[in-house]
Amino acid sequence: MGRVENKVALITGGAMGIGRACAERLASEGAIIVITDVIDEVGMSAVDAITRAGGQASYLHHDVTSEDEWIKILQQIRQLHGRLDILVNNAGIAVRASIFEMTMAQFQKQNAVNLDGVFLGLKHGIPFMAEKDGGSVINVSSVAGLMASPGLSAYAMTKGGVRLLSKSVAKECAALGNGVRVNSIHPGIIETAIWNKMDANPEGGENQADVETIAELAVPGGILGKPLDIANGVLYLASDDARYVNASELVIDHGLSA
Ligand SMILES: NC(=O)c1ccc[n+]([C@@H]2O[C@H](COP(=O)([O-])OP(=O)(O)OC[C@H]3O[C@@H](n4cnc5c(N)ncnc54)[C@H](O)[C@@H]3O)[C@@H](O)[C@H]2O)c1
Repeated sequence: MGRVENKVALITGGAMGIGRACAERLASEGAIIVITDVIDEVGMSAVDAITRAGGQASYLHHDVTSEDEWIKILQQIRQLHGRLDILVNNAGIAVRASIFEMTMAQFQKQNAVNLDGVFLGLKHGIPFMAEKDGGSVINVSSVAGLMASPGLSAYAMTKGGVRLLSKSVAKECAALGNGVRVNSIHPGIIETAIWNKMDANPEGGENQADVETIAELAVPGGILGKPLDIANGVLYLASDDARYVNASELVIDHGLSA
């Protein structure tokens, strides 16, 4: 019996990186996975990998910034599985630029994915989860949601927003007694493609990120994290082992923010 056996789990931005690791880890413990993303071929190959490993998964196209698409994919999950037990609001982007360099369009795009996307997932996902036995929502924030992040100031704003949105909605759910727990998870420096996509100015020279060097300089012990390190935390929060864990923040950063 897996730790999340037969629970239906939606993972946004699950085609690659941390989201994909969450999908694979939850599937390995018996969850029925729905990966959503905007990169369809990559998302479908993630589903193939889970299926080949003996898990259950499907893929749906889903831009988290669109309310219509949220409503549509939740209807599709209702038709496919009749319930939703785990929601991992993972889709996110990072724009590396000081606020003096950042354009309004970049600021708004980042807010749309990182904040609107989480808002819409909570607003539309939780009532569906509450129809059956409740469930667990895990919102992927960051260490940048806990501490100042010069050069990523607007990103930090979105991630700080996710942290307090999570805690507040957790208390709204508890007051309703709807059985839904809401927590945030705060990765440190994790080896994913996000680090290659974040430069607002791709010609940025010294602005370019080398994730191994950043980890060496910033993380106690210099250790770079892996997506699986975060997926293991998501699995814990999703499982009934975390029955009494609500409105909390799970920091997985090897001491970076300590
Ligand atoms: N990698 C790190 O060091 C790190 C640290 C802290 C927090 N995070 C957070 O972890 C989450 C996952 O990031 P990652 O590192 O795996 O990055 P990633 O770029 O590997 O994966 C992000 C995924 O989100 C998807 N996505 C982007 N915009 C989307 C949209 N509008 N709708 C749906 N999907 C969309 C991408 O296609 C991609 O598959 C993000 O919220 C990120 O902010 C990452």
